[in-house]
Amino acid sequence: MKPRVLVTGRIPEHVLAQLKAECEVDSHTADIPLSATELIDRVRDKHALVCQIVDTVDESVVAAAQELKVIANIAVGYDNIDVTAAQRRGIVVTNTPDVLTEATADYTFGLILAITRRIPEAERFVRSGQWRVWKIDFMLGSELRHKQLGIVGFGRIGRAVAARARAFNMRVAFTDALKLEVEDAQQMALDDLLRTSDVLSLHLTHSSAAVHLIDAEKLNLLKPSAYLVNMSRGGIVDDAALAAKLRNGTLAGAALDVYENEPHIHPDLMTLENVLLSPHIGSASVETRTRMIEMAVNNALAVVQGKPPLTPIPRVA
Ligand code: GLV
Repeated sequence: MKPRVLVTGRIPEHVLAQLKAECEVDSHTADIPLSATELIDRVRDKHALVCQIVDTVDESVVAAAQELKVIANIAVGYDNIDVTAAQRRGIVVTNTPDVLTEATADYTFGLILAITRRIPEAERFVRSGQWRVWKIDFMLGSELRHKQLGIVGFGRIGRAVAARARAFNMRVAFTDALKLEVEDAQQMALDDLLRTSDVLSLHLTHSSAAVHLIDAEKLNLLKPSAYLVNMSRGGIVDDAALAAKLRNGTLAGAALDVYENEPHIHPDLMTLENVLLSPHIGSASVETRTRMIEMAVNNALAVVQGKPPLTPIPRVA
């Protein structure tokens, strides 16, 4: 009997074929994610689940899936999964680290350049037909060289962003839960990082401790000339407090790829010129998304075939 696998989203043909050669595959290919009850119904008799960040794999899902051996998330983050509940039942949970680091760091730097040099605002201006005359003092942005990039969370992606910042002659400072010795980058307490950075970029893992880590009080520590970039997870920043600061001019700008209640975005953020909004696409290159999907499928296949997973999430409890 072949192992049964539920794949909750579209995956490339060559990966699907690889999976079908070894398993009985049930795949959901519509754009709208499975509802909570549909997910429970479809995963109930499966041995493996290949899922995405839009799938909430909570206690009720793992409790219903009595035969489940592995949950392979196609993402480096896994806050959509109740890892404790899964691991307690002996279910292996895997993610897709490393393969998305460079693409995410590239995109982060794209956002940093775009917000500091006002690229989306300039494009909106041209497309709306408002450009009539060239002016020397029009739409002036802010340069990066000799400024401080503050990185919150100095893991794989944070370090890759730091490498790009050095090429732009930025000074790199960071905060991290671990004490790290890093050449060319100064470790600071979060409050000091907030007070001194010209661009603050968030790259920490989501956890209960990270919820509203950047709240109104922390935002008030930022310089009025600073920019905030969030590429980690929604909910780490208090979006309402951020919108208020951007509106009253006490923060120069923000570039956001993730939101508290995505895909719903705080209405105030939608109306401001000094904020760049992007739809959670930090790792979205053809090459990287393909590698992420291949890695998740290889993780699922390894576990159902009794082999060790490639990239298991360490035990949380
Ligand atoms: C995307 O947000 C990821 O965690 O991979």
